[in-house]
Amino acid sequence: MHRIMKNVPFLGVAVLFTSLWACGPAPANQPVGLVSPEGTNRLEIYLDAQGRPGYRVFHKEAVVIDSSGLGFEFRDQPALMGGMELVSQSGSAGDETWEMPWGEQRQVRNHFNETELTLKEKAALGRELKIRFRAYDDGVAFRYEFLPQEGVDSVIITAEHTEFQLTGDHTAFWIPGDWDIYEHLYQTTRVSGIDALSRRNHPDLAATYIPENAVNTPVTLRADNGLHLSFHEADLTDYAEMTLRVDPEKLSFTSALVGSDRTGYKVRRALPFRTPWRTIQIGDRAGDLLASRLIENLNEPNTLGDISWFTPMKYVGIWWEMHLGVSTWDMEATQDMNTFSALDKKQMNKKHGATTANAKRYIDFAAANGIKGLLVEGWNTGWDHWIGFEDREGVFDFVTPYADYDLDEVVRYGRENGVEVIMHHETSAAPRTYEQQLDSAYGLMKSLGIHSVKTGYVGKIIPKGEYHHGQWMVNHYRKVLETAAGYEVAVNAHEPIKATGLRRTYPNAIAREGLRGQEFNAWATDGGNPPEHIPIVAFTRMLAGPIDFTPGVFDIALPSKPNNQINTTLAQQLALYVVIYSPIQMACDLPENYEGQPALQFIREVGVDWEQSVVLDGEVGDYVAIAREERGTGNWFVGAVTDENARELEIDFGFLPAGQTFKATLYKDGAGAHYRENPKALAIESAQVTSDSKMKVPLAPGGGLAISLMRE
Ligand code: NOJ
Ligand code: CA
Repeated sequence: MHRIMKNVPFLGVAVLFTSLWACGPAPANQPVGLVSPEGTNRLEIYLDAQGRPGYRVFHKEAVVIDSSGLGFEFRDQPALMGGMELVSQSGSAGDETWEMPWGEQRQVRNHFNETELTLKEKAALGRELKIRFRAYDDGVAFRYEFLPQEGVDSVIITAEHTEFQLTGDHTAFWIPGDWDIYEHLYQTTRVSGIDALSRRNHPDLAATYIPENAVNTPVTLRADNGLHLSFHEADLTDYAEMTLRVDPEKLSFTSALVGSDRTGYKVRRALPFRTPWRTIQIGDRAGDLLASRLIENLNEPNTLGDISWFTPMKYVGIWWEMHLGVSTWDMEATQDMNTFSALDKKQMNKKHGATTANAKRYIDFAAANGIKGLLVEGWNTGWDHWIGFEDREGVFDFVTPYADYDLDEVVRYGRENGVEVIMHHETSAAPRTYEQQLDSAYGLMKSLGIHSVKTGYVGKIIPKGEYHHGQWMVNHYRKVLETAAGYEVAVNAHEPIKATGLRRTYPNAIAREGLRGQEFNAWATDGGNPPEHIPIVAFTRMLAGPIDFTPGVFDIALPSKPNNQINTTLAQQLALYVVIYSPIQMACDLPENYEGQPALQFIREVGVDWEQSVVLDGEVGDYVAIAREERGTGNWFVGAVTDENARELEIDFGFLPAGQTFKATLYKDGAGAHYRENPKALAIESAQVTSDSKMKVPLAPGGGLAISLMRE
């Protein structure tokens, strides 16, 4: 559907709310008001007595973000932090419905009111700045638009000062504002207790840099009255990522952009340009955040057109065996996942994972179970010079297979069996080496009929001084996405830049990591992901976009890793296929661990592309239950996970279409199930349900529930 934007004469009524200003600078002028279509959220935008722009946000007439200032500092110009006046203001509204080529739901409504303010500096320079605000019923957003400046062709931003003044010491679910990696465990503290610097020097992270007490986004807050807020950004294009500096006394966040030691600044842009959107999602229930499509709505429509060459799928991979330390990425078998270091071959006594024979074994397993993809890591030369090596430029080769891996034959055998190979490109954080080979690497894929790639960026970025989340790398990740699209290749990036809804514009951005994935359970020295991990991730990281979490470990005790185990029950591993959204979902365990397991039936059946999704219930950090309807079949799937606490889940099947009977298969935590003591206790039950059915199902500590609902 086409976008409908209409100009409306004057949107929100400009009213003076002098008596309501709780704290902070009072507006010098009448504030401009902007109200969401249903009136749920309201913005007031003003210039304070110093001529600095600011805003406040109301949710159902309660202040949820108090007076917050806006502004910038530059390298070669005075700061724009005040001395401005309002030149013009105009309102508009949008209401369109667009279709996701794959997603949590097919139809997305993008319904908002907008106001655009043009501000002008009163001093000699007379610089102009536009700020565009949008009010949605699920949140608010704004972005800056830098206008042309006489005699100046580009600006260098050294700091962005976008404030978010909270109204209380809310409970925060946060990871540190690391410039290199998102793979931290979420912490739960009051805003006043956020201490990002205490998360420095994590032993399991190959690159981490946390320069100040800031958090990364999405960061989700719960106020004591139950209100939920989540802060993030949308359309991160040619700009540095935004982290949020914490002021534990003022109880506020201020944008802190990721920088570069090479250049000493944050962002350099030719004029005119616009920044990413700064977003605040607002919900009365935790589940409202999950249902919000605000982030995607703030991105441009699909520029790729038809991408039917990519189909959502489940996949297996020569992958978990390396993380378990059973086999290696490098053919020489000298690199050890357990120690992240090169060892003497004799000491290792390991074997190369990516061999032709092993790939065929996985293909046979996939084909027998209706799984459409096979990822093969460690297939190309360069892995003997990976972790622990500083000089990684020019090392990885993305077209040359190891001698014991016959790429053509594996692709052919896969095709014969209905399984497509997924390419793997570990860049070892040497993006220039990768960029030099993009065309040849994707050209090879195209010639083989391979339509997706998993990329990786483990280690410190080369050149030194750049960080994974700075403007330079933001542009690299974009270049990869755009180049890949030209070869009909979809990208699943690990160690990525965070998702900001660009999958709408580039639907070949199918999934990414950008969190502590399942892999940490195999080798983390801190005991792995705790049971509360997913109940937090669902309401934080997942608001940004699809997650390649790699669920499906059945051999939960990890016998080859005496110091590690998965901190979930088997039922929870199944539930992850529904709870975590991604158009690609791995069945990550070794084929031999699935053999003869009745629970495998759920992985065979579960959908990967959805007509609609319904959040049934949930609390951040405690539990979450989601129902999703599969596209094309009308079958439904339910997934629920809980933290370390057992609880009883009440399911109301009212989400099902009325008048139809479904055959339900329930994969429940069995008697005595417990994520540590008895993770594999599973009970599989059948029932007939309709939209009138209700059920109470116990979840074990660290447990879960998966249900398939097949139309009769
Ligand atoms: C880190 C990724 O997250 C993981 O999935 C992959 O196996 C390794 N890098 C090697 O590329
Ligand atoms: Ca990773």
